[in-house]
Amino acid sequence: MVSKGAAMGSASAKEGWSSRGAFILAAVGAAVGLGNIWRFPALAGESGGGAFVLVYIAFVALLGLPLVLAEITIGRIGQTDAVGSIKEVAKRSQASGGWSAFGGIGAIAAFLILSFYSVVAGWVLYYASVMGGELVAAIGRGDPLGGAFAGESVDQIQSRMGDLFGNPWLLLGMHAGFMGVTWFIVSRGVHAGIEKAATYLMPAFFVLLIGITIYGAFEGNFSEATAFLFTADFSKLTPQVINAALGQALFSLSLGVAGLITYGSYIRRSGGLGGTSATIALADTMVAMVAGLMIFPIVFAAGLDPAGGPTLVFQALPVAFQAMPGGALIGFLFFLLIFVAALTSSISLLEVPTAYGKGEMRWTRFVSASIFALGAFILGIASLLGYNVWAGVSPLGFWSIFEGLDILDTIDGFTGRVMLPLGVMLLSIFIGWKADAKMLQASTGLSNTTFRLWRFLVAWVCPIAVGLVLLFGLFPGLLG
Ligand code: TRP
Repeated sequence: MVSKGAAMGSASAKEGWSSRGAFILAAVGAAVGLGNIWRFPALAGESGGGAFVLVYIAFVALLGLPLVLAEITIGRIGQTDAVGSIKEVAKRSQASGGWSAFGGIGAIAAFLILSFYSVVAGWVLYYASVMGGELVAAIGRGDPLGGAFAGESVDQIQSRMGDLFGNPWLLLGMHAGFMGVTWFIVSRGVHAGIEKAATYLMPAFFVLLIGITIYGAFEGNFSEATAFLFTADFSKLTPQVINAALGQALFSLSLGVAGLITYGSYIRRSGGLGGTSATIALADTMVAMVAGLMIFPIVFAAGLDPAGGPTLVFQALPVAFQAMPGGALIGFLFFLLIFVAALTSSISLLEVPTAYGKGEMRWTRFVSASIFALGAFILGIASLLGYNVWAGVSPLGFWSIFEGLDILDTIDGFTGRVMLPLGVMLLSIFIGWKADAKMLQASTGLSNTTFRLWRFLVAWVCPIAVGLVLLFGLFPGLLG
């Protein structure tokens, strides 16, 4: 008799992590990304610093960490893609298989996020190559530790971003390059692709992060940066800021799109999941804080505006890399760092729909990864055209909270403000109320007290907090 796996072909061949450490690296890699290094500092800067940071940390602790554990647990019990895993948990809990819908919504959200994530990562790729060129030029001048953009005015340096955005072909090329690398790694599989990439890229990431932060502590304005990030001015806490902090916590931990269900399904071994989840949530939050302490000292030392928003990293920092000693080198390493972080995250975004195609449609990994990578690439073209050919197009402009947003910001806003919170809400109701408690406790490996605390947070705190934020975030008029 042929074994079940062989009979069903490669589409169902079991894949898995080779160790717990490999899973943690891959999951931290998924969590740490543009969200930590580009989005977090931009949001913290725009939202006034400390108060935002505090709310963000509270959301991570009270909602984020419990939900990370919830997603990983579903995956490990189900041992297949998100939809199949939720169905399995539902079946064992005598709940409706209809709950698997949030796995499907998650796969769609991951696909949508991937489409614009790759465009932004393309900007990073472009700046890495520009800074690489500046480094080569500095070495050519016999001054490898010199600054970048020798002899250029601030306007000239900053005009690069406008030039890039005005050039759809350049944007397209970078987007294609980034998506191509993501597709290549995911199509190679969990062990030979995702895990291998994480074991090389994550150590490189941490070395770069710590190196640049130490550099900033010496060369930048560290005290102003810590004061900005860690002194809370509560007058700045508006419902919008709270909404943004929740969205950022979910996005940064890769929650709400079933990404951790998918990664959790590749865990083969038994053993508790509480410590593993805490490690992931803590590492992600630490990286966001350190990224703030890496970027803001440089921003303040150069006298730049911390509230630069999305352009902070791309327009403000290059100016700082001109004046600082070693600026060309540090600038190059800085964009390399963001590139590495973005790559391990985009891999996880592509893996969610890829696993769905494998598990539910019975496609091979190669076919599934190719279809979704190509699809996200094509959709991403709309985002990048929004900066030039389709400038002024605002797809959800009729909805007040999305009014005036370009295509990329609309997809970012819709996934982040609507789809992620909705996904998390369904996840928390399912795990908090529907899933069988005995099965959950056995799989999470939590002690009685911790288990009760966890289930309370998931059952009550998550749906209520997310529900309120969703309500007021989507209908700001309710607050009068
Ligand atoms: N967490 C990643 C970041 O901070 C982005 C990301 C990867 C993500 N996978 C996700 C966001 C799943 C939401 C859902 O950059």
